[in-house]
Amino acid sequence: MPPIISAQKLGKRFGATPLFREISFTVSEGDRIGIVGPNGSGKSTLLAMLDGRVLPDSGDVAVRKGMRVSGVQQISEYAAGDTVRSVIDAALDRAKVAEAERGGRKAEILGRAGFADVEARADSLSGGWRKRLGIVEALVQHPDVLLLDEPTNHLDLAGIEWLEGVLQNAAFACVVVSHDRYFLENVATAIVEINPVYENGTFRVEGNYSTFLEGKEAYLHAQRNRQEALENRVHTEIDWLRRGPKARTTKSKASGRIGDPRNRGPRRAFGRRPVLTIGQNRAQQLARRADNRSPRMRVAFAPALGELLRLIHGPVGRRRRLRIRFDFSTNGRFAGL
Ligand SMILES: Nc1ncnc2c1ncn2[C@@H]1O[C@H](COP(=O)(O)OP(=O)(O)OP(=O)(O)O)[C@@H](O)[C@H]1O
Ligand SMILES: [Mg+2]
Repeated sequence: MPPIISAQKLGKRFGATPLFREISFTVSEGDRIGIVGPNGSGKSTLLAMLDGRVLPDSGDVAVRKGMRVSGVQQISEYAAGDTVRSVIDAALDRAKVAEAERGGRKAEILGRAGFADVEARADSLSGGWRKRLGIVEALVQHPDVLLLDEPTNHLDLAGIEWLEGVLQNAAFACVVVSHDRYFLENVATAIVEINPVYENGTFRVEGNYSTFLEGKEAYLHAQRNRQEALENRVHTEIDWLRRGPKARTTKSKASGRIGDPRNRGPRRAFGRRPVLTIGQNRAQQLARRADNRSPRMRVAFAPALGELLRLIHGPVGRRRRLRIRFDFSTNGRFAGL
């Protein structure tokens, strides 16, 4: 079975700064995915792209044919005059539920959610009950995927326990943005963190919140090791450059790939200045330009110079094909591919 929702290479920007560059995301049967990430990292925007309220600038969101995606937004607001009954009826209308089926659905779901008075005005409910109503509104539509944006922010403890029970026993998949670690620990079968520190913009671990933390620790540890190895190579390279032209023409002991002239293009490409004179901003700029010029290169984002160098040198096979030339003598001017 293909995933119910498959979002591929989504890009989105508001104004000048990109929010996402090529993030991918799938939701399959039985998934209960917790989305975490810093404030403003784009969690709500991702949910809105999954249910079509916001269109990505690039990439695709494909929903399997016949599948229904229902969303509960971060804030549940109702117009004056709406009652619990009218809100639910409107949701059933939107989902085109047959008349004969409506009574049963409403009674069951409203009863389990604890709504005693269906004539109560929706806008006068407390924040917690408005949120429950928002969730019930989505549940009566019998979604295949339920999207929830920070549902526990407004729920009291009883409400959170009710929601945990609903999701744990659900026949549908769900995607829940939440900062509530206990809730995620109890409910999630996978966690996705949205954060530009990751090479692909997201990091997914199958399991609940503690499994995610273990996975993240392992990732960061491996990243630190890669960074250290890279720094060592750069230091070796700088030493080599500082030896002076004569020493450099003798058979070099600098075994790092970065500056070894036997592995590189024309020597002038390395200039006289040490490679580290390009700053972090410049490095990011260069990586973006390199990305544009060669779509075959997998460059999500280059947060630091270290990333850029890794990109330039890459795995051996790719390095040979790309033939990137950088002119460090002009402080990192891009010399083309
Ligand atoms: N319609 C919009 N127009 C302009 N900027 C927007 C719009 N929607 C979102 N943004 C910006 O995009 C960024 C991500 O917003 P989003 O609400 O998706 O983040 P979030 O991760 O859900 O944040 P929070 O944890 O605060 O809920 C923010 O900087 C926000 O200001
Ligand atoms: Mg949000």
